[in-house]
Amino acid sequence: MSDLAMQNRTHWENEELKLDELVHQAIWPGGEKAVQRLAKQGKQSVRDLIGKLTDPGTEFFEFSRIAGFGMDYPDVMDVPCGGLVTGLGKIHGNWTMIFANDSRVKAGTYFPITLKKHMRAQAMAERCGINCVYIADSGGAYLPMQADVFPDDQQFGSMFYNMARMSAMGLKQITMSTGGNTAGGAYIVFMACQSVMIDKMSYSFLGGPPLVKAATGEIISAEALGGARVHTQLSGGADHLCQSQDEAIERVREILSLEPPQQLHSHRYEEVPPRVPVTAIYERLPANVHQGINVRAFLEAIADDSQFAEYKKFYAPGLGDNIVTGKLRLKGLPVGVIASNGIGIIFAQAAQKATEWVLRCCQDKTPLLFVQASPGYMVGSESEHMGIGKYGADMVRAVSCAQVPRLQLVIGPDNGAANYGMCGRGYRPHFLFSTMRARTSVMSGRSAGEVLMSIEERKRGNPMSEEEKQAFRQQMIDKYDGEAHPFFCGARLLNDRVLKFWEIRDWLAMAVEVSLLRPIGEPSFGNLRF
Ligand code: COA
Repeated sequence: MSDLAMQNRTHWENEELKLDELVHQAIWPGGEKAVQRLAKQGKQSVRDLIGKLTDPGTEFFEFSRIAGFGMDYPDVMDVPCGGLVTGLGKIHGNWTMIFANDSRVKAGTYFPITLKKHMRAQAMAERCGINCVYIADSGGAYLPMQADVFPDDQQFGSMFYNMARMSAMGLKQITMSTGGNTAGGAYIVFMACQSVMIDKMSYSFLGGPPLVKAATGEIISAEALGGARVHTQLSGGADHLCQSQDEAIERVREILSLEPPQQLHSHRYEEVPPRVPVTAIYERLPANVHQGINVRAFLEAIADDSQFAEYKKFYAPGLGDNIVTGKLRLKGLPVGVIASNGIGIIFAQAAQKATEWVLRCCQDKTPLLFVQASPGYMVGSESEHMGIGKYGADMVRAVSCAQVPRLQLVIGPDNGAANYGMCGRGYRPHFLFSTMRARTSVMSGRSAGEVLMSIEERKRGNPMSEEEKQAFRQQMIDKYDGEAHPFFCGARLLNDRVLKFWEIRDWLAMAVEVSLLRPIGEPSFGNLRF
């Protein structure tokens, strides 16, 4: 291994250790004490429950584990894991979206980030046609922030709106209540297609005992008001009475054992491992995130048999190959690739090539993978006069209208309009993954410093001194670097997971497979300019 490759590897391994530390905090909020508290209540931790719910020997693909860090809400700086675990696991061979409130995080209450995470997972489930299981244990809305979590679209009420609509589409909504479900939160039990409650552990009521006392003067225990027996024997609001969490898990699995097997809407070829191991990525991606990349060398490490059938490889040398296009297979599934290459600045020729490739993949119904490491489209008079705005807009239109499943993976700079053309969050890719090498912001800190400095000078009415300029530049670089970092973006759910390099192939293959559970429609693109 060359010295440079070794330096890259050491750098990325260290970066991923930082990710491990944050994930540890997300998985163990409150430490051992919190686990003991759960045990005293007869409860297991959420990931243990999920492990039992999913098929033995299969992986649970957990999303957005670093959501909620550094949010600085009233009285709360961090909401580890957003207070909610979401992810895809297999139950009787079928992909299922699993939601689990983590009662160790402020009694599993809903903060704005918790809702965002819940909505995102429901949106994925609806789009891919996947059943949902809710392991519900929540104190409902985080009351100090009621105005930010209760009344709006995509807030509390939308959880139940989504459940109702998904169940009407035939997507099963199953709730297993393992604790409190109060007020609006009670609907997670009552809206389910089938709900499971546990004796002396699950509660569900529109108003808890203190509210009932205040409203009507009635003094009543939680158990007598809305315990598992009340709802399975008297009100009929829940359907299954169990004695323990383990029994409840078995009941959910039994309910879902009668679901028909999911169908894949694509031919699957035999899976062939890459000839270059996926761990080669650690050596092949430069430690400096602003340094250009050889994306073909990256693709070799993720593609079946390391094969990439490139499209228009020799088109417009030096101008067209800052985007590389072609097809590869991920665990036997064909995928069309649009990947940033070199320094990643998109020239008009590359934008044209990418647009063409989106259209071709849509025509033959091949899912698209965008590998993003681009700081933006080429600026300047030559580029503008050549029509970079027009060709960039065509690319954005094609990406927006593509009816095939779309995935984005960020492995470098992710700035400006390149974020649009390469299918960033606003373009609603089916799945969006990031890595420790990703930097997502409107522009780099250096560029922002220059733009903001000219505004500042105009405001002041006189030029800044060289020292003032230097200090201002540095301030902007620090701010933008912080906000572009995968931890900042992951905390705010701007991606579905920050992947370690060795996870990339497995996660992309899973995402392509899940995205193909719904049939692909016909292409239609509106007004392309060309
Ligand atoms: N809003 C804000 N904070 C809440 C909360 C809410 N709705 N529900 C609980 N919390 C906080 C508690 O203040 C406590 O904070 P702390 O750790 O800083 O002291 C933490 O969450 C744990 O709550 P605790 O009551 O100790 O947990 P528990 O396991 O004994 O009980 C509940 C859990 C959900 C049964 C109980 O907290 C409860 O009844 N909460 C109120 C539920 C409600 O009325 N919600 C209406 C909103 S829709």
